[in-house]
Amino acid sequence: MAIVAPSLLAANFLKLEEECKMVNESEADWLHFDVMDGRFVPNISFGPMVLEFVKKVIKRPVDVHLMIVEPEKFAEEFKKAGADFLTVHIEACPNLHYNITQIKSLGMKAGVSFNPHTPVSDLSEILHELHHVCMMSVNPGYGGQKFIPHTLEKIKQLRKMIDDRGLKTLIQIDGGVTLENASSIMEAGAHVLVAGNTVFRATDPREVIKKLKSY
Ligand code: DX5
Ligand code: ZN
Repeated sequence: MAIVAPSLLAANFLKLEEECKMVNESEADWLHFDVMDGRFVPNISFGPMVLEFVKKVIKRPVDVHLMIVEPEKFAEEFKKAGADFLTVHIEACPNLHYNITQIKSLGMKAGVSFNPHTPVSDLSEILHELHHVCMMSVNPGYGGQKFIPHTLEKIKQLRKMIDDRGLKTLIQIDGGVTLENASSIMEAGAHVLVAGNTVFRATDPREVIKKLKSY
């Protein structure tokens, strides 16, 4: 059974309250919250101010995905705004162990995200410190992109590394997840499906979430 995390980036921002209530009434497990700075990625989304409002309504853990440079400068602010899980990018953190320690000492669960060109082996010495790994299956910056098929190979490699070491780290797949590819993603060894457009642009989002969970 997949853990499902709808990505708010694809929601209708004029109706954020309704969109959050839909998630509350669904079988979704987490809410995925994409933060972009126009520097690490070529796009800008939303930040802690919006999170504070979302937290007033949402009844699920909020999984904040920071696609920003120098995330250490904002970790505390996101904690105050209500982040439950905080994910930073390996490519943006020269002192990654410091970032993970900071996130955990602030009382959040820590995750590391990595881009399609970054090898799984780069996580080797940090994996045991993590609640989850967010494997990008598109280049970060935009919703609605096509799933990169080579990701399936990377999921298998990462799952083997986790199992061989007896770890409980969750593998989260982010980008281009659809009802068509969700089963192959789960079969490859993933635990968490992030889905933006597939959920929020559906005629019946709750039904889509239910189907994603069933894989
Ligand atoms: C991409 C974001 C994703 C995005 C996924 O940079 O990190 O979380 O919202 O959107 P979909 O599911 O539409 O590809
Ligand atoms: Zn994301």
